[in-house]
Amino acid sequence: MNSDKNSRKDQGCEDSLFLRALRLEPTERTPVWLMRQAGRYQESYRKVREKVDFLSLCHNSQLAAQVTVQAVDELGVDAGIIFADILLPLECMGSGLRFAKGDGPVLDNPVRSAADVERLKPFAVEEGLGYVFQSVRNFVAERPSVPLIGFAGAPFTLASYLIEGGSSRHFDKTKSFMYCQPEAFEKLMALLTTMTIAYLQGQKEAGAHCLMLFDSWVGALSRHDFARHVLPHSRRILQALSGPTIYFGTSCGGMLDLLSEAGSTALGVDWRSDMEAAWTAIGHDRAVMGNLDPCVLLAGREKIEKQVDLILEQTGTRPGHVFNLGHGILQNTNQENVRFLVDTVKEKSQAMRGARLTTEMQR
Ligand code: CP3
Repeated sequence: MNSDKNSRKDQGCEDSLFLRALRLEPTERTPVWLMRQAGRYQESYRKVREKVDFLSLCHNSQLAAQVTVQAVDELGVDAGIIFADILLPLECMGSGLRFAKGDGPVLDNPVRSAADVERLKPFAVEEGLGYVFQSVRNFVAERPSVPLIGFAGAPFTLASYLIEGGSSRHFDKTKSFMYCQPEAFEKLMALLTTMTIAYLQGQKEAGAHCLMLFDSWVGALSRHDFARHVLPHSRRILQALSGPTIYFGTSCGGMLDLLSEAGSTALGVDWRSDMEAAWTAIGHDRAVMGNLDPCVLLAGREKIEKQVDLILEQTGTRPGHVFNLGHGILQNTNQENVRFLVDTVKEKSQAMRGARLTTEMQR
């Protein structure tokens, strides 16, 4: 009885626009969700944050599921992304993670030597990050028909936070570590890879329908360094996972072909690339996600409409496009504009499909 109910639930999601697009199946319109759709630009999120700090919110599975649901409901997007952060696993490894007001993340115990790599604490994902798995279960119970994305940081991007001790502009410490201590760097990457596989598998088992690997800062590398030091690890993660996956990086326009070798179901593209050229580089046998500049949401409706038109023209009615921003929503964004964007993508992409059908019938 129970398993019957569960399989019906799963069925509902499997037929969703989002998962169908990832399988390159035709859809009646383009599915849309937005990176950082839950965040400070929302009044409802700021209300929750008045009572708890960011890390406590992530640790609280009930509140984390609630803000995930709020974003889905308020925007009408086609997928949720579980509320958490890519840096949470680093907390379990003894990095001393904290979020300083205005400064973003700070890691008080950065990794600067082979000995520091040795000191990183191994941990069981269920014990250290079980609260994220519970957030996933809570969301799935509350919104069984909405596909949910689980996620993790990719090893290079995580390593960059560990080595820099926070955010960085040039990634000079990370790259010096990679060049000067290649064995320790490789060891660090392998350790993060093994942990990330277990973490993502845990989210999948808890009910996530799709898994996303954020390699936000990998665009700082040359093609050669990416292929040699990073690609094997990202590939190992993506190959270990079952079900649909998304691999995402920014400023990667010159190496999308290499990123696609990591083997994800879909590739996220930022706004610096032309979507048509990006899809050609990636290969049309793979889904794509993107790629509106989040700053367009700071402009008026007319600009938003024009930019949506451009992206939809570039992707055409070819199956396999998931509309998204090229990076996360900025804090100073007006929520009305975000809602308008989602509605515009839905309406325009549906109209395009309709127009194509009419033309085909007239032939
Ligand atoms: O809707 C969602 O996308 C929610 C979940 C989510 C968050 N972070 C919540 C968050 C996701 C998927 C992330 C991923 C993440 N976190 C990335 C990869 C994506 C990207 O943006 O490149 C990275 C690099 C991080 C690390 C991180 N977390 C930074 C650099 C910061 C500080 C910058 C900032 O925006 O404040 C965070 C904090 C953070 N993560 C916030 C949110 C909503 C803001 C925290 C707050 O409420 O004060």
